[in-house]
Amino acid sequence: MEYHIKDINLAQKGIKRIQWAGNFMKVLRAISSENKDKLKGIRIAACLHVTTETANLIIALKNAGAEIRLCASNPLSTQDDVAAALVKYYDVEVFAIRNEDRNTYYEHIHKCLEFKPHITLDDGADLTTYAHSNNMIYNIIGGTEETTTGVIRFRAMEKEGSLKYPIIAVNDSKTKHLFDNRYGTGQSTIDGVLRATNLLLAGKTVVVCGYGYCGKGVAMRARGMGSKVIITEVDPIKALEAFYDGFEVMPIKEAIKKADLIITVTGNKNVVDKDAILNAKDGLILANSGHFDVEINKNALYELSESYEEIRENVIQFNLKDGRRIFLLGDGRLINLASAEGHPAEVMDMSFSNQFYSVLYILENKDRLENKVYTLPYEIDEKIARMKLKVLGIEIDSLTPEQENYLRSWREGT
Ligand code: ADE
Repeated sequence: MEYHIKDINLAQKGIKRIQWAGNFMKVLRAISSENKDKLKGIRIAACLHVTTETANLIIALKNAGAEIRLCASNPLSTQDDVAAALVKYYDVEVFAIRNEDRNTYYEHIHKCLEFKPHITLDDGADLTTYAHSNNMIYNIIGGTEETTTGVIRFRAMEKEGSLKYPIIAVNDSKTKHLFDNRYGTGQSTIDGVLRATNLLLAGKTVVVCGYGYCGKGVAMRARGMGSKVIITEVDPIKALEAFYDGFEVMPIKEAIKKADLIITVTGNKNVVDKDAILNAKDGLILANSGHFDVEINKNALYELSESYEEIRENVIQFNLKDGRRIFLLGDGRLINLASAEGHPAEVMDMSFSNQFYSVLYILENKDRLENKVYTLPYEIDEKIARMKLKVLGIEIDSLTPEQENYLRSWREGT
């Protein structure tokens, strides 16, 4: 068995935490039990955040017969105890070490592809793009993508004609983005900021850049903590939504003058750029919860500073040449995983149930899928929602035959 992790002795701590998360992932467990042996002989390479929730997905796939290699989808999100427990107690080949450098990160991706998987699971598209750029597609028949940023990259590849196998965009499922992106990112981002800073959010002005589902979640939770929340957007419809949800909306160059804390969740680069930083108040805290560490222009921070130092875990203080201080959290990487534990298991249950069904979907439809980006059929989404409601003990109504008829007809009017 091959693996590269920090310390196998962390396994005992890891397994307890994995089991704790498992208590909140009952839909995934049920799907795995219903599909015993369906994945026999299937090799899966997964490039995901190595967390307790991901461990439960890996175990669910393994229980259905798959052989798996796992590497990290971000150098700073790996939980080393989880990696150790997966190796020691579940015989999973893991290649991930928290804080690994860029070379090691890509060596680990390489290891996962050397395994010649049939299916890839991605979060941010690094595994799949590496396979494409390094001629390592071998036996791959299809892949999945977890997050908005990755789906954007895959759609660009499809458009360009360079995608060499089909991808299921897990993020497109309603039972993924409506819950994981909104409630998961919302809560875990605030959690990450608080663990890094122990800041009192009440009374602070918090600027949230981006009002997609992640931004909506962060804004909602910051408001709930008593912050005054300002939204910045480039999309006029999302900007209007933010306004009518009761938030102030303005350009970043204005918002930064008022901000005590800025959280970026746009999926784009240099959203907090040099010209905006020039307007910042002394003591501004900057955090990012988007997938890549490109949203805050870190180079500009270094250029504008005469010195910098890590003053707490996950907090770098930049001393600007004009005397102001700016604090950067988690090195600009996704703060919810760098400084907290990522989304809670209860939402990841639905996201990873979509991952599981995507793997089955690829296998069942491999002969008709083209090299395109696909969304899972709505019936699967609905099935996951019904299973989650059942776990939660929530019953809902169903349409009467009369109502079904009414919805199908056009004769009845005023
Ligand atoms: N992405 C965000 N939160 C996560 C978590 N807890 N596990 C895996 N991937 C995540």
